[in-house]
Amino acid sequence: MGQVFIRRSTAVLLFLVGALCIVCVALLVLLLAPDWRQSGGETSAHSMPLDATPRTSPAAPAPRNTPVNTPVTTTDTAPKEPWEKEYRIPRTTLPYHYDLYLHPNMEQGDFTGKVTLLIGVTAPITYLVTHVKKLNVTSTVLVRRGGGGEEEVEVERSFEYAPNEFWVVVPDHVLLPGNYSLTLEFAGTLTGSIVGFYRSTYTNAAGEKR
Ligand SMILES: *[C@@H]1O[C@H](CO)[C@@H](O)[C@H](O)[C@H]1NC(C)=O
Ligand SMILES: *[C@@H]1O[C@H](CO)[C@@H](O)[C@H](O)[C@H]1NC(C)=O
Repeated sequence: MGQVFIRRSTAVLLFLVGALCIVCVALLVLLLAPDWRQSGGETSAHSMPLDATPRTSPAAPAPRNTPVNTPVTTTDTAPKEPWEKEYRIPRTTLPYHYDLYLHPNMEQGDFTGKVTLLIGVTAPITYLVTHVKKLNVTSTVLVRRGGGGEEEVEVERSFEYAPNEFWVVVPDHVLLPGNYSLTLEFAGTLTGSIVGFYRSTYTNAAGEKR
């Protein structure tokens, strides 16, 4: 009996590690994909999709000077949104650093977390993107970090653009070059057969405890 219990505990530990690995993979997609995508895009630039932007480095996007309340009547001919045309993280944003917090909830088979990305903006931009996949982002906070001060930037809208696995953040004004921190809170599910098996084991163990 004691041996069985030890084996069960070991199995619980192993599956806990497995579950956390899945979470980590999901977060690596979130955090590291920008770099991977950039280099991948460079090595296969000759085979870029037809609607991709030209290979020559485009000039910095022109700041949107149009007041928000000006009616726009040319939507029929307007080009697609930039985050729809470009599947890479723009070179005008550099990821410097990130802090990550994870709270797995093994009983419910899901997790919540928070990541704060320190981003360097090198040219005026009207939107930010970061990669997300299979995560529900529940909160988006953008803060400008200047010399000795922090100032929250109002986010006009933030949303997932799933085809490019982007989380798009549109501030209410043009972001000038400088450092910004983007804090996302998110929730996800610990899916997969390994986690499922872990959960059934855990239920037995919990039944003994409670
Ligand atoms: C932005 O942050 C990076 C990394 O911490 C730092 O090296 C750089 O000096 C900062 N730039 C400004 C303008 O604060
Ligand atoms: C995201 O939210 C939707 C709707 O609330 C839900 O169906 C889905 O399972 C959630 N996905 C994750 C990964 O939490």
